[in-house]
Amino acid sequence: MRIGLLTSGGDCPGLNAVIRAVVRKVERVHGGAVLGFRDAWRGVMEDDWELLDVARCRGILPRGGTILGTSRVQPYSTEGGVDLVRAAVQRHRLDGFIVIGGEGSLAAADDLRLDGVPCIGVPKTIDNDVVGTELTFGFDTAVHICSAAIDRLHTTAESHDRVMVVEVMGRHVGHIALRSGLAGGATMTLIPEVPFDIAEVCDALARRHAGSSYASIVVVAEGAEPAPGTLEEIDYEVDRFGHQRLGGISQVLAAEIESRTGIESRVTILGHVQRGGTPTAFDRVLATRFGVAAADAAAAGEWGVMVALQSDRIVHVPLADVAHRRKGVDLDLYEQVARPFFAS
Ligand code: F6P
Repeated sequence: MRIGLLTSGGDCPGLNAVIRAVVRKVERVHGGAVLGFRDAWRGVMEDDWELLDVARCRGILPRGGTILGTSRVQPYSTEGGVDLVRAAVQRHRLDGFIVIGGEGSLAAADDLRLDGVPCIGVPKTIDNDVVGTELTFGFDTAVHICSAAIDRLHTTAESHDRVMVVEVMGRHVGHIALRSGLAGGATMTLIPEVPFDIAEVCDALARRHAGSSYASIVVVAEGAEPAPGTLEEIDYEVDRFGHQRLGGISQVLAAEIESRTGIESRVTILGHVQRGGTPTAFDRVLATRFGVAAADAAAAGEWGVMVALQSDRIVHVPLADVAHRRKGVDLDLYEQVARPFFAS
């Protein structure tokens, strides 16, 4: 068995744990070889790769980032890209690829499957927005980093009687914001799935600060949006892959809160700190389980699936059921558990 392995999309704590698990299982149990392609599909299309073995993967389990490098380059947005991928399969006599990626990369893996390139997906993203799996690895680490930051911001909020607005990642979904807001006892959490009304936000904060509380933490997902017509939309830059460079909604919010309520407000944007460094124990275990399951699926010839976590079991779901979809937050959790505490 010869497997092509790549990490695609934004980096995420736990990528190296998956790589290590795939390599160990393929080499030691299935007697196969793993070719690691650098910078995702770029390495496949440009024939930039290395042979991965157990020795190469020693010590990488707790390391953040990815030893393979990553990028958002996709065969479908590169001229002749799919032919280059097919050529790589033939040149290296590959049985197929294990693609460790988020929603965009998994959709590309499914398109390649339809074009005759065998792929198995492993769901990664700190955003936790991949359908078919209850969790993606990296998410738990991000939530820990954010809730630890919120804990620290409480003391400054209390000492200065301020509103501290904390911006966390979450382009289309608010999983990180909701979980870290709940864990950190946020005053209010704003998520992309539920557009916010700035007047309501400010009224609630003004009421709270007129009462017995003089400090507030507002957690906002970077992709949160004002309800139509309530605030001017932010004009984000777009990168060369067509992705909006988010970041800045917290500044708009803090400025509005301060000018409408008179309460001093400050901004903290956690940014890529949320994706960096060592994964939590939970993410290391989940990533290892995913890697082992992906290697086993390849050995069994079960291509066209994504490994997934459901009720603490690792299962296979068809890539076709995952592609071009996105998992939002459980709105019951938001409305029933988080919202009742808003500014109370
Ligand atoms: O998809 C993961 C993610 O971290 C998003 O939460 C965020 O919007 C995006 O990646 C940032 O991408 P980049 O690292 O390219 O700025």
